[in-house]
Amino acid sequence: MNKLYIEGSKKLQGTVVISGSKNAALPILFMTILIPETIKISNIPELTDVSIAIKLLKHLGAKIIQKKKTLWINTKSINIFCPPYYLMKKIRASIWILAPLLVRFRKAKIFFPGGCKIGSRPINLHLKNLSKLGVKIILRNNCIMASVDNFLKGTSIFMEKVSVGATITMISAAVLAKGLTIIENAAQEPEIVDLSEFLNKLGANIKGAGSNKIFIIGVSRLFGGSHKIIPDRIETGTFLIAAAISQGYILCKKTEPKHLKKVLTKLIQSGAQIKTGKNWIQLDMRNKIPKSVNISTSPYPGFPTDMQPQFTLLNSIAQGKSTIQENIFENRFLYVDQLIKMGAKIKIKKKSIICTGVRKLYSNNISSSDLRGSATLVLAGCIAIGKTELSNVYHLNRGYESFSRKLNKLGANIQNT
Ligand code: UD1
Repeated sequence: MNKLYIEGSKKLQGTVVISGSKNAALPILFMTILIPETIKISNIPELTDVSIAIKLLKHLGAKIIQKKKTLWINTKSINIFCPPYYLMKKIRASIWILAPLLVRFRKAKIFFPGGCKIGSRPINLHLKNLSKLGVKIILRNNCIMASVDNFLKGTSIFMEKVSVGATITMISAAVLAKGLTIIENAAQEPEIVDLSEFLNKLGANIKGAGSNKIFIIGVSRLFGGSHKIIPDRIETGTFLIAAAISQGYILCKKTEPKHLKKVLTKLIQSGAQIKTGKNWIQLDMRNKIPKSVNISTSPYPGFPTDMQPQFTLLNSIAQGKSTIQENIFENRFLYVDQLIKMGAKIKIKKKSIICTGVRKLYSNNISSSDLRGSATLVLAGCIAIGKTELSNVYHLNRGYESFSRKLNKLGANIQNT
């Protein structure tokens, strides 16, 4: 699937069932390398990024059985510590294979990871902090070679910058290290909490996940067990936007409202009526055009950068002028030119996206450049006047399970080539 044809002027409304979280599933999949016993993981989203992670594990020698959204993974027979370039370059999350391989084999050789074009995305914090646990790192020919003499040693780490990825790397390196590791200025995302709960179920001793200070007492081994992946908060937010921009209503089922507090606050400010229950969120625009909202992205519990493009779309058809400041990734604006091609009035000034709401967007031939930008452009096509042709849509399947099918059930008309 490389192109989508999207009929516009649609109201998107109805019920959608939210899938498991991509960003929680990916690190958890790689953590299975730490445990040479069978682990059952359920609510796995069916996504290309996830299938690449599974391919990586299989390439190393893991035995994996998949039944629908449940995986049984046994990494006992892993005997390779150098995953291949063609898989590593496909996903950013492949960096999380480094620490588990290192812990298991005392050495690992990986290629630099790939991922969305949303900024420079360095991995210096992963590497620098691993070396504080006693890891020797050599960088050569696009490769990271890491080794440890005897065992990883617990230590205190202060993260220079709040990083989801580096916090995950440090947790995975510390669970089986000797002694206590303290991570200060840690990322607090729900995906970090899910990872820690997963590892604790298998015998790890991690406390404080979800706060900015995480304590990990190294244990001698981990055991097999099972875990259910949390719902995808970004998928949830994207579907809430779908209803908000088309003046519709939506019921998102099997989600976690607590993970979307900042997103829901902004939707309420934009005029949406929101109701929540234990595992559902309902949004009703009551046929009203949204009001524009000002946003500044920041690490959790702040407003998520992964919802920035979708809110830019909302602002581009909302009443009034607005500013969204992107503080996490320096180049997360590539989709903006495509919205401008559709009639949006948007200006980028340094790291701010300044929108003046227009009454309508118009179809065009557009192209997507990254995951969240792609989803945003699909939604733009659903409300634009005319038929939009969107190319490069492979990004979508990386992070949204059955996105077109779910939207079509809500009233969209999206066809593949
Ligand atoms: C993860 C998510 C991504 C989300 C992002 C921020 C996954 C697979 N991806 O990405 O969807 O947008 O969190 O919520 O879960 N940084 C450094 N050095 C490092 C690492 C990061 O300078 O070694 C910087 C980054 O350039 C960025 C900031 O820290 O400016 C945050 O990045 P980080 O939280 O690490 O994002 P990812 O883990 O890559």
